[in-house]
Amino acid sequence: MIYQQQARFPDGFLWGASTSAYQVEGAWDKDGKGPSVVDMLSHPPGTADFRVASDHYHRVEEDVALMAQMGLKAYRFSIAWSRVIPDGDGVVNPDGLAFYHRLIDALTRHGITPIVTLYHFDLPWALELKGGWLNRKTGEAFVRYARLLFSEYADKAPLWLTINEQNTMILHPGAIGVPADRALPDKRSLYQQNHHMMLAQAQIFALCHREFPGLRIGPAINTTSMYAESCRPEDAIAAHNWETLRCWSFMDVAVHGRYNALAWAYMRDRGLAPEMQPEDALILQQGNPDFIAINYYSTATIAASRGDGGDVAPRAGDQQIMLGEEGVYRPAENPWVGKTPYGWVVDPVGLRLTLRKVCERYGLPILISENGMGAPDKLEHDGTVNDDYRIAFLDAHIAQMRLAIADGVELMGYCPWAAIDVVSTHQGYAKRYGFIYVDRGEDDLKSLHRVRKRSFWWYKDLIAQNGNTD
Ligand code: BG6
Repeated sequence: MIYQQQARFPDGFLWGASTSAYQVEGAWDKDGKGPSVVDMLSHPPGTADFRVASDHYHRVEEDVALMAQMGLKAYRFSIAWSRVIPDGDGVVNPDGLAFYHRLIDALTRHGITPIVTLYHFDLPWALELKGGWLNRKTGEAFVRYARLLFSEYADKAPLWLTINEQNTMILHPGAIGVPADRALPDKRSLYQQNHHMMLAQAQIFALCHREFPGLRIGPAINTTSMYAESCRPEDAIAAHNWETLRCWSFMDVAVHGRYNALAWAYMRDRGLAPEMQPEDALILQQGNPDFIAINYYSTATIAASRGDGGDVAPRAGDQQIMLGEEGVYRPAENPWVGKTPYGWVVDPVGLRLTLRKVCERYGLPILISENGMGAPDKLEHDGTVNDDYRIAFLDAHIAQMRLAIADGVELMGYCPWAAIDVVSTHQGYAKRYGFIYVDRGEDDLKSLHRVRKRSFWWYKDLIAQNGNTD
């Protein structure tokens, strides 16, 4: 009964949790770290910035010990490029490298497998000043940076992710913020940036396999299945358009080394297709991933354009809120799913569907590199944080993962967002995701003391049973 049977999680399943460097570390200019684009963002008064974040840089041993107590088998984190190469492409900062040695060594001591993201939104500011990803040379610098990290950590970190949510950076460029004196890039530039990331990623896959054959590496795309609002054929086309443009077009280049035909036609017809150098087609085919990582939070529901100029939603969007595009797709409501207080669709069954689709398209193992529920957690007077809503959210998604495994999906692991509270890209510390609470407010740093939430104990128990809780 492929529709109902719950498989068991396999031995060695990577029960983990995620963070990213700039959202957790703090120490934004400490020990030689250079600034990154996120350090240049301005923050409205009363909202957290990234200077101290969760102060993980200074509490790394304590934090890893808590992760170990939770029973984590894996920890997915990113390396801050400008911590190890302050200007992105010049002199290496030994203190920066030493910090990640400390982190990886602490994980290894506790038997936690490191899963390292090379780049999670925080491009070195010096590279941004030279044109950022629009400059082809940024891609070359990224490849050199990747080689440095592989040579440094290959013998102790076996699993790597290239770029976190390339599709968020290209399709929702405002989602991570823009420095006050800069404008959002136009679409044409964004697709050119995308092309440069693709070229660099293919070269990194190739160099990783050629020079560091023990490592496994994959992309990490924010992946969201789209439902058609109705069985009207035009709605089905619109949902397919957006699912392809938003998700598959990114993964297809990573896996197949060529652009998705529909995505290319979309870009070509609108004058958005990237400029290709003669050697680019071959570069894209140089390397491919060993597995696919997905960040899954929500599904979305899509309707056909009404042709009335009203396809674009009149509100600011984030990475999970579909905005609409004239003539391409129009966001619609789904009466069958829930929503978080922040308007993100909650759809555990959609995770199973998404896993099936990724498996069917690419036939590769899958790692869930993010999934989670942001909420305004409250530290009670008795020192507890009772995040039962998060437990319910994660539990429902894990049940669907078991069904997906029964469907035939090869699932490597699950790394919910987040191991510990981090600065949310949009709502600072008002919106939290961690299993571990960090005692700080927006601009009031308080004690930064760590508190194990109820979900911490729940996840520990679940991991102890390898997720097979019945
Ligand atoms: C993912 C990002 O898209 O969503 C994370 O990779 C981010 O960096 C997470 O924090 C949750 O989003 P937000 O906006 O609620 O922090």
